[in-house]
Amino acid sequence: MSPWLSLVLALLALGCCTAAPRRHQPTVVVFPGDLRTSLTNTQLAEEYLYRYGYTKVAEFGKSLSRALRVLQKRLALPETGELDSTTLEAMRAPRCGVPDLGQFQTFEGDLKWHHQNITYWIENYSEDLPQDVIDDAFARAFDVWSKVTPLTFTRVYGREADIVIQFGVREHGDGYPFDGKDGLLAHAFPPGPGIQGDAHFDDEELWSLGKGVVVQTHFGNAGGAPCHFPFNFEGRSYSACTTDGRSDDLPWCSTTANFDVDHLFGFCPSERLYTQHGNADGKPCVFPFTFEGRSYSACTTDGRSDGYRWCATTANYDQDKLYGFCPTRVDSTVSGGNSAGEPCVFPFVFLGKEYSTCTREGRSDGRLWCATTSDFDSDKKWGFCPDQGYSLFLVAAHEFGHALGLDHTSVPEALMYPMYSYTDGPPLHEDDVKGIQHLYGPRPKPEPQPPTTTPATQPTAPPVVCTTGPPTAHPSTSPTAGPTGSPSVGPTGPPTAGPTEAPTVSLDPSEDVCNVDIFDAIAEIGNRLHFFKDGKYWQFSEGQRRSVQGPFLIRDTWPTLPHKLDSAFEDPLTKKIFFFSGRQVWVYTGPSVIGPRRLDKLGLGPEVTQVTGGLPRGGGKVLLFSGQNFWRFDVKTQKVDPQSASPVDHMFPGVPLNTHDIFQYREKAYFCQERFYWRVNFRNEMNQVDEVGYVTYDILQCPEA
Ligand SMILES: *[C@@H]1O[C@H](CO)[C@@H](O)[C@H](O)[C@H]1NC(C)=O
Ligand SMILES: *[C@@H]1O[C@H](CO)[C@@H](O)[C@H](O)[C@H]1NC(C)=O
Ligand SMILES: [Zn+2]
Ligand SMILES: [Zn+2]
Repeated sequence: MSPWLSLVLALLALGCCTAAPRRHQPTVVVFPGDLRTSLTNTQLAEEYLYRYGYTKVAEFGKSLSRALRVLQKRLALPETGELDSTTLEAMRAPRCGVPDLGQFQTFEGDLKWHHQNITYWIENYSEDLPQDVIDDAFARAFDVWSKVTPLTFTRVYGREADIVIQFGVREHGDGYPFDGKDGLLAHAFPPGPGIQGDAHFDDEELWSLGKGVVVQTHFGNAGGAPCHFPFNFEGRSYSACTTDGRSDDLPWCSTTANFDVDHLFGFCPSERLYTQHGNADGKPCVFPFTFEGRSYSACTTDGRSDGYRWCATTANYDQDKLYGFCPTRVDSTVSGGNSAGEPCVFPFVFLGKEYSTCTREGRSDGRLWCATTSDFDSDKKWGFCPDQGYSLFLVAAHEFGHALGLDHTSVPEALMYPMYSYTDGPPLHEDDVKGIQHLYGPRPKPEPQPPTTTPATQPTAPPVVCTTGPPTAHPSTSPTAGPTGSPSVGPTGPPTAGPTEAPTVSLDPSEDVCNVDIFDAIAEIGNRLHFFKDGKYWQFSEGQRRSVQGPFLIRDTWPTLPHKLDSAFEDPLTKKIFFFSGRQVWVYTGPSVIGPRRLDKLGLGPEVTQVTGGLPRGGGKVLLFSGQNFWRFDVKTQKVDPQSASPVDHMFPGVPLNTHDIFQYREKAYFCQERFYWRVNFRNEMNQVDEVGYVTYDILQCPEA
């Protein structure tokens, strides 16, 4: 029986009754930790004017009118000089923490970068979004600026980066504390050494892509699409995953607005489906389990000082010592309040009444909240339920503007306007472009540099520079200690257990391969070219006519692979497929997999931070590439010959340095850089570049944009 059918059947058995809501007098309660609502309007205005540079502290109590006029002019509000409702509303709106007038403090220099190859480091993450979604949001935010300037942005791993990105709460080390949920969202310092150029994001916000929490689903019948909140199920509206309609307690969601019509669903992250990291290969929790003689029927933080929730994956932790960390369910995790990051606990008691969903009761601002213990009345632990969230991409693009030297503008439509507003469209306004080009000039029109021949075709679309260098290492931000210190640690592969459904389901055909700028990896597998990007792949074949199929989800075909690959190749003899990502390698033979293993196993030391490609050379030998070197690799022994390390340009003169995808297709080698490829013909023992072109237009035959 298919899962959704069982779900419908279970629902039929539930029966239904909806009581009419009772009218009653609202009670307004003071919530602990909820500072914002307790300020008077004048206090709010004084604090705001001071914080954003309009007044000095000595001016409290007087000359508010003059400061208000300056503020109103800066924010393009009606200049009344009064604390009117428009102004108050603006002061309550979410915004950037950088002052509108003056800098945080006096910084040295002319506050622009004096080199064009800017580096950035993502020091840590918010739990609100999957890490690859955060990586991607930052990369796209930098891209916004690199498209209109000569600047390039490369991701590095270490404090020496120009721009260090971090998430923090309240006072986070720089003397400019965040303020809890809403209000101030993020701030960034102008260019320069040390903290200058760094961008900080308030982790008490709910970070999203601007349209609600992003919950990726697992299994089900929707190919892993994200949940659609709210969704309708049997006439009721749900804004979080639910276990309704199921007897197995697995949370699920609809991936379209109406489950009743579309019947598309997936399972939400749940400890009943899998755990993360730990030492149990991602196996699900077993409830109840015993830990230090006590029985647990839910994830716990007991035994840990870092607050991470964990569970045992067998019935007895004390005996088996097997555990994993419980996945976070963003859709029911609170922000703000006094227990940010913890899940709602349903049902909870508030003023003697039991609640099994988020409620607006007790609040004058009408916002949804829940308790994070089962009794608010005694514990007073609470937070806000998820809302639309703030688009990390848009806020980051704004903050990076500061990190490049821009100030706030008074053009409300511009990205550098201090207030947050969500837009689907291109984020930059003329005003932003003028500002940044004043500092750095426009983007030069680069030509691909064909070393020996001219490109076969003359593409008309302007080339876009690859700003997202492939990762060079994987810093672990996951918990590193076991519950009592004894279990061994280190991330393990993703879970393989659980219900699987039809693999290789094609996704939305509108996800056109031609919209991809730069692929993560390209490889010829089973006589077809495979184009990998962000957890998806397309297949390209060139028979009577060219055809592209996909995208497919990588995890449906090769379930243990990560989202982001660096390269892949298939050994023509054994049909083993090698996949590389960072310092890890996976080897698939049909559906069976060995890995992930570290590159050391292949004889590649720590100086090799990634493998950028492989060229099978016959006889079970493969050339493996990394940076400007390559090695000979023996498929049978799975070792590189350490003596064989050679510079790429010795054997392949004419291909550029720093190529990121090297693959073989129809007996020719392809070296990619940004959107271009250099094709090398091996004929007559001569390695000669015989074609340069665009990956999309010339290989995939995409229409020219
Ligand atoms: C940036 O470019 C300069 C000059 O081209 C070079 O000296 C420097 O090493 C580069 N920095 C990085 C981080 O690539
Ligand atoms: C990120 O790193 C900063 C600086 O080390 C720290 O203050 C902050 O708490 C960290 N945030 C998270 C979410 O780990
Ligand atoms: Zn700002
Ligand atoms: Zn900060």
